[in-house]
Amino acid sequence: MTAELIDGKQIASEIRAEVAESALDLTERGTRPGLAAVLVGDDPASQVYVRMKKRACEEAGIYAPDMHLPADISQSELLDRVEQLNEDPKIHGILVQLPLPDPLDEAEVMLRVRPEKDVDGFHPVNVGRMVSGDMDAFRPATPAGIQELLKRIDCDPQGKHVVVMGRSNIVGRPVAEILSQKQPWANATVTLAHSRTHDMGEIGRLGDILIVAIGRADFVTPDMVKPGAVVIDVGVNRVDDPTREKGYRLVGDVEFDGVREVASWITPVPGGVGPMTIAMLLKNTIKAAGRFAA
Ligand code: GUN
Repeated sequence: MTAELIDGKQIASEIRAEVAESALDLTERGTRPGLAAVLVGDDPASQVYVRMKKRACEEAGIYAPDMHLPADISQSELLDRVEQLNEDPKIHGILVQLPLPDPLDEAEVMLRVRPEKDVDGFHPVNVGRMVSGDMDAFRPATPAGIQELLKRIDCDPQGKHVVVMGRSNIVGRPVAEILSQKQPWANATVTLAHSRTHDMGEIGRLGDILIVAIGRADFVTPDMVKPGAVVIDVGVNRVDDPTREKGYRLVGDVEFDGVREVASWITPVPGGVGPMTIAMLLKNTIKAAGRFAA
């Protein structure tokens, strides 16, 4: 079997077109949606992510001012900046790109973002509301994007065994939570595996749907995948490649060529989950602006 590709880029562009329509509608009614994407320091990957988020906003008609702060900003200055954004009526969504440079305290920064503007869904209030099944709470963009990909290929997780590899607060933990909820496009039996799991292959082969967010290049090999599984690869890893101009290329956490011969559907890297994260963030921004407009 050769798996079909899940074209996240195409699906995300459809969502971004819907977002652009909503943004225009809100703007015409007097509320232009605004997102502050805060970059602290000069981490190259974070710079790329924030640039992509801002560009996507501009294309969708969402106001996205430059918010680049120095790596040596103090904790209290950063909290003050977040507070200013909380009070800024032109800003409906705030995201602080993670990871923050040392020694900044991420948890305290997340706590300072007003939950109504927390389009990342990282504030403990939104995490708690999500865990208790409140569908109005902001859901983190990558897990929401994964659920949307499953929807768009008509793969209903209901009753299926979903294996999640990786327990991060940004991806693994919330996606396990969302897909196990008593909700449409969820209702799965979920196993959350992680770096201390014994025999990852044995667990991986249980998954009708395998979601991998472990942060190690080519970690999942074909023998770890159930034949016919839907494989969602969240990893973005740089590996040296002297044949490329930049000297590296991006690969996922899944050994793509081999696993493609076992799975029924698979996300490519890049072009799978990554574009969905941005699209869902924009959707959350529209939701936030819509509430302010209401
Ligand atoms: N770092 C990696 N993923 C994310 C994300 O979804 N949001 C933010 N703010 N930082 C991240």
